[in-house]
Amino acid sequence: MRFQDSDLLDSGFHASTDMHALWADLRENQPLYRAEPGGGREPFWVVTRHEDVSRVLRSHGEFSSRRGTILCVLDLDTPDIASDNMMADTDPPRHREFREPLNKAFAPPVVATQEKLLRDLSRDLIQSALDADVYDIAHKTMMFPMAVTGTLMGLPPESWERLVELVMMTIAYDDPDYSTGNAQATVRQARHELFEYFQKEYAQRTREDVDPDVIGAMLAMDLSEGPMSQEQVLLNAFVLLIGANVTTPHALCTLMTVMAEHPEQFQAVRENPELRASCLQELLRWSSPVTALMRYAVKDVELHGQTIRAGEPVSAWIGAANRDERVFADPYTFDVTRRPNKHLAFGLGPHYCIGANLAKVGLEIFLDEILDRVETVEIAGEVRHVASHFVPGYKSMPVRFTPRKTEAR
Ligand code: HEM
Repeated sequence: MRFQDSDLLDSGFHASTDMHALWADLRENQPLYRAEPGGGREPFWVVTRHEDVSRVLRSHGEFSSRRGTILCVLDLDTPDIASDNMMADTDPPRHREFREPLNKAFAPPVVATQEKLLRDLSRDLIQSALDADVYDIAHKTMMFPMAVTGTLMGLPPESWERLVELVMMTIAYDDPDYSTGNAQATVRQARHELFEYFQKEYAQRTREDVDPDVIGAMLAMDLSEGPMSQEQVLLNAFVLLIGANVTTPHALCTLMTVMAEHPEQFQAVRENPELRASCLQELLRWSSPVTALMRYAVKDVELHGQTIRAGEPVSAWIGAANRDERVFADPYTFDVTRRPNKHLAFGLGPHYCIGANLAKVGLEIFLDEILDRVETVEIAGEVRHVASHFVPGYKSMPVRFTPRKTEAR
């Protein structure tokens, strides 16, 4: 597989290329690869094997999150204000000051309060597709996590549609459907509007609110230096919104493609409910909704006979690790019975996804509903990917659903 180093930062390349061929080659022949993207951009290391991706994500003593974790910050200005102030851009022990109180906001009892909403959203989405001949499901899946996080964060429903657009502008700034024409200007505009929006939400809450939503809970949080500042609340609201909304839709859309390609496997899941858990894990491995994450070396690290120097950026490719033949037998086969399934879709270590439980419950409910109501899924038109090197998402996916016969249900 031929590629140029700059391609790794080129969103269009990711949207139009079979990245798996490239990753397989890197895993086998250059497990620690130094990319020199040119154009004044900083060189960065690339790791693709499961073992190395796990080490980079987990080992915060060697690889730090403090300079940002999204690859695009290499060619865009880094929001330094996030370092040590936004959960994702901190290292332990500072990280725990944000993470431990927020864990409670996404703990299983809280997620359980959202189950009815998740079921209603799933039914509504499935019914809309059943009612239409051909239905573009991609946009609707974007509203799915938005409705849940919007509810948990206490955000007014009339703003959800715009919030989804702003989220897409921050991660798919090169995509003509989201870009305002210039990548940097697109990201700046989106961040500006999002922070202005959260500022208004912040102003409507107090530390004394009874039964606070997630933003209210952050207002009441104490860090080692005192109460969480307005800026810190805004940054963490921002990362929660991004974390939920760019990932979950991709898993849902990927479910459409695997149901269309492997109807017999989903029939087996329908008949054997005990397969639902492994099916869901396989969907997460297969979809890998976060393509890559960044870290920066804290000290010199030896890997595969080379030295990553202190301060150098390292990109850990989750999509590649989840197809590593060293860990997964037959990695290019979608298999609902796969066990064990040590995928890294939710990351690993201290930053392991805070919304993993919420995402899993949402996907489980959606899977239940679709297996119950839909006999077959067909991809009924051109599928278009979001141009992004952070998430492999879809922006258009026309589907045709055949209903299950009532007596079969
Ligand atoms: C299928 C859905 C999801 C996937 C695949 C996913 C993936 C990930 C991954 C790979 C990380 C690790 C980041 C790192 O190591 O730097 C992460 C962290 C995070 N995710 Fe998710 N996520 C999903 C859903 C959600 C949801 C629903 C939320 C919101 C509640 C969320 C919010 C976050 C946040 C705030 C972090 C940072 C946690 C920290 O730094 O401690 N994610 N996610």
